[in-house]
Amino acid sequence: MTSVRPENRPLLALAPASGAEGNRHGSRSHMTCFFRCGNACDQPEPNPTDHVHVRDEIARAVGRRGFLRGGTLTAGALIVGGVVHSGGLAAAATQAPRRPGAPSGHGSLGQAAFTPVEPNRRDAFVTAQGFDHDVVVRWGDPVVQGAPEFDAHAQTVESARQQFGYNCDYVGLLPLDDDEALLVVNHEYTDENLMFPTGAYSADDVKRISIASHGMSVVTVRRHKPAGSWKRTGPGRSPHNRRLHDATVFELTGPVAGDTRVRTTADPAGRNVLGTLNNCAGGTTPWGTVLSGEENFNQYFDKGAGLDPRYAAQYARYGITGSGRGWGTVDPRFDLSKEPHEPHRFGWIVEVDPYDPTSTPRKHTMLGRFKHEGANIALSTDGHAVAYMGDDERGDYLYRFVSAAKYDGSGTKAARAHNLTLLTKGTLYVAKLVGDGTEDGLFDGTGTWLPLASDTQSFVDGMSVQDVLLFTRLAADKVAPTKMDRPEDVEPNPVNGKVYAALTNNSNRGNAAMPVDEANPLASSQVRASIAAPLTKASGNRNGYVLEMTPGGGDHAATTFTWDLFLVCGDPSAPETWFGGFDKSKVSPISCPDNVSFDSAGNLWISTDGNVLGSNDGVFRVPVAGPNRGQVQQFCTVPKGAEACGPLVTDDDRSLFVAVQHPGEIDGASFEQPASTWPHTDAFPRPSVVVAFKSR
Ligand code: FEO
Ligand code: CA
Ligand code: CA
Repeated sequence: MTSVRPENRPLLALAPASGAEGNRHGSRSHMTCFFRCGNACDQPEPNPTDHVHVRDEIARAVGRRGFLRGGTLTAGALIVGGVVHSGGLAAAATQAPRRPGAPSGHGSLGQAAFTPVEPNRRDAFVTAQGFDHDVVVRWGDPVVQGAPEFDAHAQTVESARQQFGYNCDYVGLLPLDDDEALLVVNHEYTDENLMFPTGAYSADDVKRISIASHGMSVVTVRRHKPAGSWKRTGPGRSPHNRRLHDATVFELTGPVAGDTRVRTTADPAGRNVLGTLNNCAGGTTPWGTVLSGEENFNQYFDKGAGLDPRYAAQYARYGITGSGRGWGTVDPRFDLSKEPHEPHRFGWIVEVDPYDPTSTPRKHTMLGRFKHEGANIALSTDGHAVAYMGDDERGDYLYRFVSAAKYDGSGTKAARAHNLTLLTKGTLYVAKLVGDGTEDGLFDGTGTWLPLASDTQSFVDGMSVQDVLLFTRLAADKVAPTKMDRPEDVEPNPVNGKVYAALTNNSNRGNAAMPVDEANPLASSQVRASIAAPLTKASGNRNGYVLEMTPGGGDHAATTFTWDLFLVCGDPSAPETWFGGFDKSKVSPISCPDNVSFDSAGNLWISTDGNVLGSNDGVFRVPVAGPNRGQVQQFCTVPKGAEACGPLVTDDDRSLFVAVQHPGEIDGASFEQPASTWPHTDAFPRPSVVVAFKSR
């Protein structure tokens, strides 16, 4: 499809450059790349370091002659270093509040046999046969009491701040009682081409409304029929409903709060930030709050009169180039020449207490600043909160935070107040992975968590605690961690206590600064040789991996772990793919794993973003233990142009929530000429959260 550039919207930063045709990365359009991450892939990866200590010659040699796995090993061969002892690990697993639903272990989603959904390009949400779905909440639906009904032709800043925001991503579900729950959702980014009728709004209004359409929403949902379905409770009867947006005050906590480098004209104390931006994935804590990652925040800042030379190296490492969205013309804080510290106030993990709609959401500086995909909490053997995190950039790192204080599970009011402080003090670490050689036919090895800083002490030469937390990427570079292939969701499995990380893809793996290693084994030349799909540029790891980490001694606070690549995604007929040892002729093709989650049986659920195998994105179920370990089965696909986010399975295994983000975001599409009309309630697409369940 040829891109269209409506001439009457000259100030909009339109995604597809004139004449741009075809997709950039598989199914991912020019529009998605521009609006979501500011065309990050057009820049060299911002990690310039050369500390490829895992420059494993064996792995490289094996890579050149093909992969040893080839489906010849049994599942049992994947036991890593003889230390997999899941029985012991289970006790140390996460203790998140049970999501709504009576624990059964025999519900429909974790246990059901289903015929996988075939790859397709339909403009529909397609579930496996025997399942159905409902749309729970759409872009524009009223969230807070008194919010106006949505009208695409009458959007205002005020309405956007009261309605469900654009491009839903993370989905959390926190119980109010057995039948009612709070649905907490991120709104990652906006697509001005698809949101606004051509010529209906001034350029400045488009900017203001787009800024207001970011953030997060809390909406009350209630069980519905058939079993497993959920519907919204009306805003007028939902005192918890809340919209967090660009005018919402967020409090900075931890060592960087008040630092001179987070002070601005509007906030001379450096403690209160307006809004949260580019919120991607997240996690629900054992104490009943939601964590949300500020991801590609770097793209929202304009150069103005020029970049502040004091921060040249820091801006560069974070990809803050000053080629923003022009938002500086409607709000000077987005003009770097006027407010050079404003970007230092984004890139954090946000914590929201949805049970208290009057609470001030917080940005926890103790968890470091980078392109946070999300954060998920496990409890260590002795009760410390451990947050696992990924920095979603080619060649960036996996992180972990361990709280100084212990979680109090007594359930009292005082205990909750204590637990709400857990993420303000502790120690931040970055991961180093070392392969054990590929003679064993496996991509596996050992890992170490390298300390960066605690709240009282820096472990990085020449950097203070504040330096480390504010410029975490630069601090991590100094301790030589492993450059990973875009770490996305990193989530502990509550059943087996292992930690699973999606490494979504890496178009540059194999270049001089990023040679392959055993944890990131696919270089572009190997992919070209083995996958028939046409390539437009050096492609590296195109289909992604799922990394499985086993904490040392089963304790999430241990400083060592073992690891293996549980999945090497792609077309199962491609020789490099690996599905935990499962028979490759019996799995679904899967590409670009992004968000991960677990059902009550411990099965892994994976949503994808940017399928390069010719299908729409979707959600997959994968057992991680037993004879079916590695049996990837596609449970659903999302509509054309969309990515699948969430996903979330309720603890009774009856409901799968999926956020359908950017339906119809295909080059050339516009509000008037949509590439999708899903969910088919209007003439244009509306990003929405759906719930899938077993048909009656
Ligand atoms: Fe917003 Fe890393 O995906
Ligand atoms: Ca190995
Ligand atoms: Ca994501």
